[in-house]
Order: sequence, then structure tokens, then C-alpha cells
Amino acid sequence: MYNNKVNSPVYENRGFQHEAERPAPYSSQYIYPSFPQTTPSHNVGYPQTINTHSTTTPGEAHYPRQKTGTRKCHWKYGLCACLCVVVTLAVIGLLLWYFLYYQCLLGMSCGPGGKCLSHSQWCNGVRDCSNGEDESQCFRLHGTSLILESYSANKQAWMPVCADNWDDNYGKTVCQQIGYSRQDYVAYSQISPGSMASNGYMKLKSGSDPGLLLQSQLTPSLQCSASAVTLQCIGCGRSSGGPSSRIVGGTEAVNGAWPWQVSLQISSKHICGGSIISPYWILSAAHCFQKYNSPSLWRVSSGDVRLSQIGLGTAVERIINHEKYDSDGSDNDIALLKLREPLTFSTRVRPVCLPNAGMPFSAGSQAWITGWGALRSSGPSPDILNQAQVTIYSRETCNADQVLHGQVTKTMICAGKLQGGVDTCQGDSGGPLVVKVGDVWWLAGDTSWGIGCALKNKPGVYGNVTYFIDWIYKQMQND
Ligand code: ARG
Repeated sequence: MYNNKVNSPVYENRGFQHEAERPAPYSSQYIYPSFPQTTPSHNVGYPQTINTHSTTTPGEAHYPRQKTGTRKCHWKYGLCACLCVVVTLAVIGLLLWYFLYYQCLLGMSCGPGGKCLSHSQWCNGVRDCSNGEDESQCFRLHGTSLILESYSANKQAWMPVCADNWDDNYGKTVCQQIGYSRQDYVAYSQISPGSMASNGYMKLKSGSDPGLLLQSQLTPSLQCSASAVTLQCIGCGRSSGGPSSRIVGGTEAVNGAWPWQVSLQISSKHICGGSIISPYWILSAAHCFQKYNSPSLWRVSSGDVRLSQIGLGTAVERIINHEKYDSDGSDNDIALLKLREPLTFSTRVRPVCLPNAGMPFSAGSQAWITGWGALRSSGPSPDILNQAQVTIYSRETCNADQVLHGQVTKTMICAGKLQGGVDTCQGDSGGPLVVKVGDVWWLAGDTSWGIGCALKNKPGVYGNVTYFIDWIYKQMQND
């Protein structure tokens, strides 16, 4: 064999001959070229074995032609190999760029297609993204007990904050960073975080510099001699005079029972509902503002269950519709109104609590809907606020063929009574779907759409406020 390779040009020619005449790639001809040989059956190709013996014993008549073919082929082969290498490198480069930078596989991106930062740059107290996204949502509250969590980029996890060295000033700073104003702050306290601290805590470093962002002063720690911080950024969710129990199938409400309920009006006419979430902010549905999107048209009235008594209300400074609101499918049907003047809170005017991460609203939870909407499909609207109790259904139930047939997306929740008879209706839009946990009311949804009103197997559909929580706080921060 060795001799054959070195001394005889025949071996090489054989190797390259078919290259010059190039049959279709990967044809059996290409993989197992046919040679003048004693066993013609080998021409048929795959999966016969390569007869190395016959490749080294060719017919002599082909020799001169094969020699010319070799030089041509060398040149083309080289070019082809070069091209292959260049293309492969380009493809690898493109893939690396796509996954490492564009998809930011090993880091975190400032936004879709934005700058890619390493994990250690996230929530480290230094703004690396052009819009500061890397430092804008480093704190959140968890569950109904309001446990303060801080994001640890290194651990890539939310961890409870240790109360060692904590004070009200830190509490106010965090609430402000979340999206509230310092004046709204109520108090902090301590709670044993249970399994939530299984990864440890985020703890204040000693000798911290108050001029720096708070997240740069927190460091992961397994030890915490106090316990976890709970934080009340606003006094919310308290009602006076519970549901006495129209909406369709409801009852009339009394003053103070739903103090967050507002009436959104144009020229003193009720158009939509809304919920107070802070002195300056009202949460409602984006579809309310599609036709009339100028803030100067609207006023926000609160403080009375009777529209005839409710008064002129407060002027609107800004309407923020969700940028991904889709009027066809009603996806992302949420909007925020910023008021010109802050509301003064009282027993009849008060905010509802925004949901936190890890809230227990699940299938089967009982919830309440309120509004000045029609008491039956295409019927008249009442003067007095109505209330009704509904059940929150699982997305699977909502989307069943005989129910809402797959129209309930993750930005929505559905609630009502499958047997029919109780529902929100025209004019209730934007208003609250609330759930009571202990003594506190939480905003689970904003009234969005339905098929008719209160029909059997057609529950109402609400914006999924828990899903929008980051979006909501981001808007409240940009002030
Ligand atoms: N889109 C309606 C509005 O503008 C709310 C409809 C709610 N419908 C229902 N069946 N739940 O007031």
C-alpha cells in the first residue's frame, strides 16, 4: 500500500478524477465512485464496502487524462476548501453573535435587541443600559405578607432582604425605586421568611454610602440575626362597609365599600370605570381610550356610589395605553391615567393594592366586580354603583371550546359564573376585579371584554393585572 501511494500517480488520479467531473453531491456515485474494475457490481454504490485493492489497480488507458485532471482539481479544490472555511467561520461568527450578544445567552439584555450585560452588571448600582433598565426593577414585594425581595444577579434569584440595620429611610428609598412616592410610605416590619430564604438573604453592608443606589449596598448572606423586611409602600386595600351584596346579577353598593372605584367621564357622562392605585395613578383598560385619547377630554370622579352625587372630579394629565394593546384580540388591555392633582384619601377614596409576585389568585378564588355598567346586555346604566361576586376560572376552563374557545391569552383572566346570570357589562370596562385576602383587597383584573353579558358559559374577561405588574411600576417610575 505504502509504495503504491508514493510511487504511482495512479492512486492520486483516481482520487481526484471524479472531482473534475463532479457528479451530484452525495449521490452514490460521489461517495463510492465507480472505477474501471473487475467487479462491476461495485458501481451500484452504497452500501458496498470500498475495495481499496481495486482503487490501486486501475486500467492504464485512463492515465494521461487523469493526470491533467489532477492539476485543475487541485486549484479548484483549494478554492473550494477556502470558501468552505470562510463560510463556516462566518456562520460560526454569526451564530456566536446571535446567541451570545443578540440573544444574550450568557448575560442579560437591556431590552429586546438591546445591549447585552453580564449578570454582575445587573442591579449592581451602576446604570449600564442607556435607559437604566439594569437598575430599574431590583426590588419587589412578595405575596400578601409584602416580603421585600432584592434581585441578586449573581445568584440569578429574588432573595428576601434582611432587616439587620434596616430603617424607615431605606424603606422609603425602596418604595420610591419601586414606583411609589416617599409620601405614600406607611411602615416596614419583620417576618420570618420561611422557605423563601433557602438561598439566604440580601443584607445591608456595613458603612454604606447613602449617595449610592441601595442595591449596591446589599450583598448575599446566609446569616441574618433579625428576619426578613416586609414593606408597606402605600396604605391600600382597606374597605369600610363590606359588600352588602346590579352589574348584571349584583346588588347596590354602599359608600366606602369600594373606595378605589372611580368613574371616568367625558362631559360629565360616565364612560368607563377605573381603580385608584396611588394618589396620582388610576388603572383602567386601554380600549376605553382608543377613540378619545386626549387627556383633556377626561375627568376622574370618586367618593360616591351615586353618579348623580359624584361631582366633577379631577383632570387627567397623561393617558398611558399599553404599547402592545391589540384592539382585535384585546390583548394587553390596560392603561394608566396620571392625574393633574393628587387625590385626597378618605374612607370613601382610597387605593386598592396592586398584586405582588406570588399572589394566591388561582382557579376557584372568589372575587368581586363593581361598576356603573349596564344591568343587562344593551340595557340602561344605573345611577348607583353595583357589585357582584364571581369565581376566577383557570385559563384551561376559560379557553374550552364551549366557553371562550382559546381567546383568553396570558394577559387576561376570566371570571364570572359559568351557569350565567352574573357578569360585568357595557360601561363596567376598566373597573376592578378584586380579591380579598385577610382584610386586604387586591386588584386582580380590569374589566375588558365578554360575549354578550352574563350568558351561560360566557364568563367576563379581565386584564391580568398580576401579569402587568412590572409594566405598571415602570410607568409609575418614569415621572
Ligand atoms: N367592553 C365592555 C365595556 O366597555 C365591558 C364588557 C364586559 N363584558 C362582559 N360580558 N363581561 O364596558
